[in-house]
Amino acid sequence: MTPVPPFLTVLQSTARALVDPGKGILAADESFGTLGRRFAAHDIPFTRENRYAYRELLATTPELGDAISGMILFEETLSQPIADGTLLPSALVRHGIIPGVKVDTGTRALPAFPGETTTRGLDNLRARLADYAARGARFTKWRATFAIGDGLPSATAIETNARILALFAATSQEAGLVPIVEPEVLMAGGHTLDRCGHITRGVVQTVFARLDEHRVALDGMLLKTGMILPGEDCGQAVTSTEIAETTLHVLQQVVPANVPGIVFLSGGQNDVDATERLNEICRYDNPPWTLSFSFGRALQDAALQVWAGDAANVVPAQAELLKRARFNALAVQGRYAAGSERVFA
Ligand code: G3H
Repeated sequence: MTPVPPFLTVLQSTARALVDPGKGILAADESFGTLGRRFAAHDIPFTRENRYAYRELLATTPELGDAISGMILFEETLSQPIADGTLLPSALVRHGIIPGVKVDTGTRALPAFPGETTTRGLDNLRARLADYAARGARFTKWRATFAIGDGLPSATAIETNARILALFAATSQEAGLVPIVEPEVLMAGGHTLDRCGHITRGVVQTVFARLDEHRVALDGMLLKTGMILPGEDCGQAVTSTEIAETTLHVLQQVVPANVPGIVFLSGGQNDVDATERLNEICRYDNPPWTLSFSFGRALQDAALQVWAGDAANVVPAQAELLKRARFNALAVQGRYAAGSERVFA
């Protein structure tokens, strides 16, 4: 008989709360390398002081909890004090936002498979998770990436990453933390919409096969995936409707109905495109799971640009974040329209 995880009720209720209808997740879990590149694009010095200031700006945005259910943090942020002396995760809880943490330690080249990666972080994961839970985290995230190209992704890369994602998810559930399982098929390349759909179907199907083997409770996890899109160098013109129909068609074939929610990453789409496409996906009736967002760039880009490392810009930057969060909250209800942008302008 399959053992029942000891924290199953907690896992189920946290997973459901993260996809509370009309809300989504703010991904603010950029590693030092990624955040450093984003800061550099705006000439913001990459200091601990600036990282703290930026993450405090995001986490203390007034009314953010109306549109955001959870925030994915980078490990450093879990221990960050904010201006009033409390730790940042406690400030989130006060706003009704569930703190979570990215627990993978980044992608590395997959030996003997040029252009492919696997994700590190399983070593000491059990001990790290106990520490993260003690610091207030209630969910976790692990990202694996899959490049599309000539002969890519290989069956070996898919299999290796699916196995690692399943080990992560099982270890997270053992610690009472809801795993967000993120197999990301990358947008880079010249592939078509159909090829992205074909690859995503194969990747997600393999991931769920390994999750099952590792006895992961599907009702106590979330899937984070990309929308099905043509590659950024493809030049194929597609409508939001085609993207939505293809995305839903693929996911319906391979994601079990007892997964409580699927949250989309933005993956390099601009913020308005990401919101419009999310809205289109969420307009369709009766998918078995709740659909929502877990955007990083598509929520943060405008806020980061306005802030630009200057304390005098915190309030307008928070207004940008809140605006995008609200648009996406409308989109998950299928109620976003281009005109909505004016309501909060
Ligand atoms: O792992 C990816 C992030 O959590 C989501 O970031 O929306 O900028 O792709 P993104």
